[in-house]
Amino acid sequence: PSTGLPDARGRALRDLRISVTDRCNFRCVYCMPKEIFGADYRFMERDELLSFDEIVRIASAAVDLGVDKLRLTGGEPLLRRGIEELIARLAELRTPDGRKPDLAMTTNGSALRVKATALKAAGLDRVTVSVDSLDDGRFQAINDVRFPVQRVLDGMAAAAEAGLGPVKVNAVIKRGVNDDEIVPLAEHFRASGHTLRFIEYMDVGSSNGWVLDDVVPSAEIVRRIDAAHPLEAVGASREGETAKRWRYRDGSGEIGVISSVTGAFCGSCTRARISADGKLFTCLFASHGTDLRALLRGSDEAGRGCDDAELRDALAGVWSRRDDRYSELRAALPPEVSHDRERIEMSYIGG
Ligand code: GTP
Ligand code: 5AD
Ligand code: SF4
Ligand code: SF4
Repeated sequence: PSTGLPDARGRALRDLRISVTDRCNFRCVYCMPKEIFGADYRFMERDELLSFDEIVRIASAAVDLGVDKLRLTGGEPLLRRGIEELIARLAELRTPDGRKPDLAMTTNGSALRVKATALKAAGLDRVTVSVDSLDDGRFQAINDVRFPVQRVLDGMAAAAEAGLGPVKVNAVIKRGVNDDEIVPLAEHFRASGHTLRFIEYMDVGSSNGWVLDDVVPSAEIVRRIDAAHPLEAVGASREGETAKRWRYRDGSGEIGVISSVTGAFCGSCTRARISADGKLFTCLFASHGTDLRALLRGSDEAGRGCDDAELRDALAGVWSRRDDRYSELRAALPPEVSHDRERIEMSYIGG
């Protein structure tokens, strides 16, 4: 247990993941399949989205309560108009002991070549980019909008050059789709200076048709890489970290594995999430959130917008009652049972 605002299981609130849009220019087959996210899909309207003022107020309340890491997500966060302005305002926040919170972004990288310098100048510290395949045909089949992998790799290089590094790379591994690329991905990014993390394919949302057989356990991923390039475990760099770290014994860098399925990390989960329309979720797999936008805009029973102290109290109240540990519970249940419940989509909550 750490100091800070504890939830019902003693986990402090440390990280706030802020989704700034539910839109994305990719249609990754496991996240926003075209059959569902097609021309008829109703995305949020502009006035449904939190304004930058509203986002800054929520982030500021969270930082007052002990959050020292802010991560912008989407959909694709770089699609939100004026995102640099939001970053600049978030970069001015200070923790109670006077530090600047770590300010990161999870992006598909498609706009980084153009935006990296401006993002850094605005105050962004780091980016994480998703790259599930190095094979261009396969990468385009996964994003399903024919986006070439080289443009994402160029975007990552631009980000590193702009000082947004070390860039983290997320690769979601799905059996039969890209598990043959585990070692090639490791080899490619070992040489690049970026930090690659392999992610177990998760049962988020209801539109990706997840089955347990699709999951490649992290232990298998580590074993396959270790056979080609010997690895040793590294300790966590931060409490509540999602990835377990491994380094190459020859000193040529490290990888991470995020084992949401085979090794739930709920016990140290310090993350809260805000959807683009202002709902507060205390778990990636929650089915209901708390409507902070209604509180901010006075469209709830109170009938007037809350002040900053009320906002902070609302956030603290929700967090202190939190007892979520979905991944741990799911691991203990047969898949038919655990899969049969309502969940929010990844593109809605930003992972
Ligand atoms: P760093 O702290 O910079 O390492 O970032 P991160 O790993 O928190 O963020 P990122 O957005 O890169 O997420 C990586 C993967 O971990 C994504 O697939 C997320 O959905 C997943 N993830 C992040 N937080 C959680 C969580 O609390 N629970 C679960 N089950 N998965 C998570
Ligand atoms: N399982 C695991 N990771 C996922 N992501 C999107 N959908 C899934 C899923 N079903 C990843 C994205 C991105 C991160 C935020 O979440 O690839 O890297
Ligand atoms: Fe793909 Fe990320 Fe867009 Fe989902 S939000 S479709 S994972 S790029
Ligand atoms: Fe945290 Fe929920 Fe993920 Fe567990 S399943 S680590 S409680 S977000």
